[in-house]
Amino acid sequence: MRQRNIGDVILDVRNISLAFGGVKALQSISFDVREHEVRAIIGPNGAGKSSMLNCINGVYHPQEGEIVYKGEVRRDMDTHHAAESGIARTFQNLALFKGMSVLDNIMTGRNLKMKTGILAQALHFGPARAEELREREFCEHVIDFLEIQPYRKTPVGRLPYGLQKRVDLGRALAAQPQVLLLDEPMAGMNVEEKQDMCRFVLDINDEFGTTIVLIEHDMGVVMDISDRVVVLDYGKKIGDGTPDEVRNDPEVIRAYLGAGH
Ligand SMILES: Nc1ncnc2c1ncn2[C@@H]1O[C@H](COP(=O)(O)OP(=O)(O)OP(=O)(O)O)[C@@H](O)[C@H]1O
Ligand SMILES: [Mg+2]
Repeated sequence: MRQRNIGDVILDVRNISLAFGGVKALQSISFDVREHEVRAIIGPNGAGKSSMLNCINGVYHPQEGEIVYKGEVRRDMDTHHAAESGIARTFQNLALFKGMSVLDNIMTGRNLKMKTGILAQALHFGPARAEELREREFCEHVIDFLEIQPYRKTPVGRLPYGLQKRVDLGRALAAQPQVLLLDEPMAGMNVEEKQDMCRFVLDINDEFGTTIVLIEHDMGVVMDISDRVVVLDYGKKIGDGTPDEVRNDPEVIRAYLGAGH
């Protein structure tokens, strides 16, 4: 059993409702996430899991409710603001530049931290050049950490899918987030790739103390690595608790676990 040092609530989702026309993607959803926790969100396809992450990092703006992050109420937070305040994410459908190298893709996650303007960076002069070297060095650390050194110059599109997912994780990590939102990081992976990804998620959580919110369909993975689990079903929250509590909850079993997942 891992030694856990769970802290106070860092992210508090309160009565969030989000609709797309007639589709009620989220209906008054509330849950909290504690510092250093691995918090899973599970539920069948279309349950509202990705929409929930999109509300947390400002891609979607919920019609009702509020999100309290580090004690501050966030309304209409945009993605840039979310990133600046320490929230990073990976995407269900990879959002990488396929023609660019692994290193350059990871650098895109770091850009937020770089102070000098784009023009100075492009011209490579003075402080901008020094800063770029510093940031590049940090990205090399991320690459070492994720054990993708052999591919650092390889265009991402040429890598197998499992490694592309790892690069996407690296891009998010490059921002040194306090809260990392992972949307199905193991989807489409074989058993070995999943094991690797689990190990990296746990290492990030242990070594950097990063709080992790994870959407995942593989119940074995969820039960193994998460501290607490939120269960969504058709936009409603139907369960919330430790993996054991959720696994034994009759409503969860009926709606999800019993349905062949
Ligand atoms: N941008 C959008 N425009 C219209 N409808 C949307 C949009 N995003 C999500 N939805 C709808 O909201 C509902 C929840 O979708 P969401 O993608 O959040 O589910 P999910 O739990 O992530 O599903 P999956 O497991 O398939 O990824 C679905 O009915 C979906 O069609
Ligand atoms: Mg989704």
